[in-house]
Amino acid sequence: MRKPLVAGNWKMNKLVGESLALVNALKPLVKDVEGVDIVVCPVFTALHAVADALKGSNIQLGAQNCFTRESGAYTGEVSPQMLKDAGCTWTIIGHSERRQYFNESDEFLNEKLRFALASGLKVMFCIGETLEERESGRMNDVLVRQITNGLMGLSEADFDNTSIAYEPVWAIGTGVTATPEQAEEAHAFVRGLVRDQFGEAVADKVRIQYGGSVKPDNVASLMAKPNVDGSLVGGASLKADGFAELVRKSL
Ligand code: PGA
Repeated sequence: MRKPLVAGNWKMNKLVGESLALVNALKPLVKDVEGVDIVVCPVFTALHAVADALKGSNIQLGAQNCFTRESGAYTGEVSPQMLKDAGCTWTIIGHSERRQYFNESDEFLNEKLRFALASGLKVMFCIGETLEERESGRMNDVLVRQITNGLMGLSEADFDNTSIAYEPVWAIGTGVTATPEQAEEAHAFVRGLVRDQFGEAVADKVRIQYGGSVKPDNVASLMAKPNVDGSLVGGASLKADGFAELVRKSL
């Protein structure tokens, strides 16, 4: 069985003090939860302080992005080694906001993914179609392209440290969630692509999280689907009680 993975993507929200308040409120609310991998992904500037606050807890720390080199003249970038140094075990790569606002291509994201994995980070690798792509019947083509190019070159062992997050862009931050049936259909399709590219063993073990307006009141019906293995949560991860409830309902 695949262990559920529930991650909070805080995006560009919360100062250091606010980040600490959030994790300090969250810790006691989930401390008895076993059987779910819980991750929070604050902004870069809060990572170090949050890592200290999470020591000894069952909450893991992730970043929201990273670069493809260890160090050097790359102004404004942060390497996987630096993220590990700050206390991260995870990073998100390929979020649709990175693809959309920062023009990150499948090829660049594949480079990031492989470098992050080689550096010893675990990765949540995001994919998903826009509304226009879905409505014009191109959803499957987009997912094929994102999976084929995005995951190129990964080994079977890499999938112990890689989760795929299916996030339909039209459902992110809009309050419109994919129905559990829409999510299941896309997840099954993605798992099939992984099977074609990497074989049965990888397809069976890889976790596929759903993301896009996941809330405490819709998470259980999404998690009930056989191919939904967790969630990547934006807005609803910014409040401790709601996120804790969402984690509990993911069991
Ligand atoms: P949302 O964001 O939960 O606010 O829709 C999800 C995401 O972008 O990861």
